Amino acid sequence: MMSTKKLNSKTAIITGGGSGIGRAISLCFAAEGASVHILELNTATADVLAEEIRAGGGTATVHACDVSRQDQVLAVIHGIGKADILVNNAGIAHVGNVETTSEADFDRIYSVNIKGAYNMLHAVVPLMKENGGGAILNMASIAAWVGLSDRFAYSASKGAVYAMTLSVARDYLHYGIRCNSLSPARVHTPFVDGFIAKNYPGREAEMFETLSKSQPIGRMAKPEEIASLALYLCSDEAAFITGNDYPIDGGFIKLNN
Ligand SMILES: NC(=O)c1ccc[n+]([C@@H]2O[C@H](COP(=O)([O-])OP(=O)(O)OC[C@H]3O[C@@H](n4cnc5c(N)ncnc54)[C@H](O)[C@@H]3O)[C@@H](O)[C@H]2O)c1
Repeated sequence: MMSTKKLNSKTAIITGGGSGIGRAISLCFAAEGASVHILELNTATADVLAEEIRAGGGTATVHACDVSRQDQVLAVIHGIGKADILVNNAGIAHVGNVETTSEADFDRIYSVNIKGAYNMLHAVVPLMKENGGGAILNMASIAAWVGLSDRFAYSASKGAVYAMTLSVARDYLHYGIRCNSLSPARVHTPFVDGFIAKNYPGREAEMFETLSKSQPIGRMAKPEEIASLALYLCSDEAAFITGNDYPIDGGFIKLNN
């Protein structure tokens, strides 16, 4: 009998796939039949997730990898040897304007959010070419589209993610490789909890409320909601979609007036 799963027999590589949005994407893609490869700095939580996926009948492998290190990325991708789907999700945050952003902070954001995405694209695109095509999804942000306060380095990095999306989509149009990006507003993940705890100690509840209300819809997104759109864009149902960014933002970009 033919499987009705949307990613049956596809190999999906998900960076930062052990936590938050990446975790939801790993679970969703595995449930849809993909063989999931999670590239993570934090292998402890990723190992627990992979075990959960395997216990549910799915296929998941964890690879210790710092996406900012090209040698590590090339070694891991060489070992995997096949890629139908790449989700460039690993990313880190930073709060600060152009004056308060230090060179070290700028370099750190650059090395993970921009160079990390480049390292993955550089390693995976040749495999997709060999394979006759593939689907790439890069995690951008509303920070690429609107002027957020105190997000200088982060916004710059997410603008670059979108620009890389267009470049790859254009260059590999005729290799059957599609490349899109997602731009979420606030999603309730450990990334957000950590960000609040670090930057607003003692005011966690108040900040959670403020961040929830900054989406006109009145709440943050759930990671599963981001995973649903990621699934569609990485599946063959989205075969006509490339070179685009998809805001998933509770009205943040267009309705905040
Ligand atoms: N949460 C939000 O509100 C939100 C909104 C818009 C965009 N995003 C973007 O979504 C992505 C995921 O965010 P999240 O909220 O799920 O974050 P998260 O912190 O919960 O998860 C990120 C994962 O990436 C991993 N990671 C970090 N640096 C890495 C590196 N150098 N190499 C390999 N793995 C690394 C971390 O270990 C972690 O497991 C990020 O790119 C973020 O910028 C998040």
